[in-house]
Amino acid sequence: ASLRGRNTFGVDATAPLLVEVHDAAALPEVLSRYAGSAPMVLGGGSNLLFAGNPPGAVISLATRGIGVADDGGEHAIVRADAGVVWHDLVMWSLAQGLCGLENLALIPGTVGAAPIQNIGAYGVEVRERIHAVEAFDRSNGAMVRLDASACDFAYRDSLFKRDPEHYIVTAVEFALPRSPSLRLDYAGIGEELAAMGIADPTPSQVADAVIRIRRRKLPDPAALGNAGSFFKNPIVPVAQAEVLHAEHPSLPVFRGSSEDTRKLSAAWLIDQCGWKGYRSGESADGDAGVAPSHALVLVNHGNATGAQLLDLARRIADSVHERFGVAIEPEPRIVGANW
Ligand code: EPU
Repeated sequence: ASLRGRNTFGVDATAPLLVEVHDAAALPEVLSRYAGSAPMVLGGGSNLLFAGNPPGAVISLATRGIGVADDGGEHAIVRADAGVVWHDLVMWSLAQGLCGLENLALIPGTVGAAPIQNIGAYGVEVRERIHAVEAFDRSNGAMVRLDASACDFAYRDSLFKRDPEHYIVTAVEFALPRSPSLRLDYAGIGEELAAMGIADPTPSQVADAVIRIRRRKLPDPAALGNAGSFFKNPIVPVAQAEVLHAEHPSLPVFRGSSEDTRKLSAAWLIDQCGWKGYRSGESADGDAGVAPSHALVLVNHGNATGAQLLDLARRIADSVHERFGVAIEPEPRIVGANW
């Protein structure tokens, strides 16, 4: 089966077998049936790069339920199946009068993928809204329910991402506040709302502002294959950030994961190395390139292979390392090759 329509890079990988699962309860049976072939589970395909063909069966979770599991209190607990399209959940929750997901509007992918890489945008990470994650434990064949605290979330990282063979996320429970406490501090949102003529926004209007910014800055995967940010923003020791910032005052520096670290803008580092909008059109790169609107986004102009995209990514990382002494790492999962 071709996986071209099942990864947002639009890379033409093929799987020997594609299994669509419509009820998470069928997972144990499906997995045991194909156990010998090292099956992999595919979500919306928005955060992976097929650098080669997956060797075994590809399992797609097509479960689509959304509901309010607990209506009481200041928060509603919303439970969504792994196969729900992420942006649909955001819009559904806002239509119910629930807030908290508005800054995460229009992120490609599915609900099941959201906790794996702890998706985040415009000052919010999904871990702040996650109540629990339901998953299938492949080591013992049991269904488990992990509290948010057990998921070991970090910047674009979690228990699930660090050990991808262990759990299959089947559903996510979110704790969504009924009364809005909006996050408008991240660069761009306030300005966008002002440009829209909105002084006192509702959560839906914040989502609209985020959608407008994203449409402008990030290429739509349906029109130009991509997986969002291809690199994570690197986290470095404070001292290194200070030296770099002194040399390059326009380098954006953000809070790190702890007091003694800082997060640097990978987009800025890549942009400085001249990669923004890169497209060779010929040579070994084929259709692999860098978005003209954002240096962090690798794009497929048509028929790039996963290997071409990976090779370009490595050259970008090498050039950043050579110029700034900073190692940048891919955000998407790379299937069929090691970084
Ligand atoms: N910048 C450049 N050149 C560019 C783009 C950006 O120099 O081509 C600089 C600008 O100074 C800008 C700064 O980088 O102010 C930050 O850019 P942006 O606000 O776009 O954020 P980012 O750090 O590049 C992160 C996330 C995005 C998320 C945005 C908005 C990561 C790896 N990426 O990007 O997430 O949408 O913030 O919150 O953390 C994703 O994970 O796939 C993703 C798109």
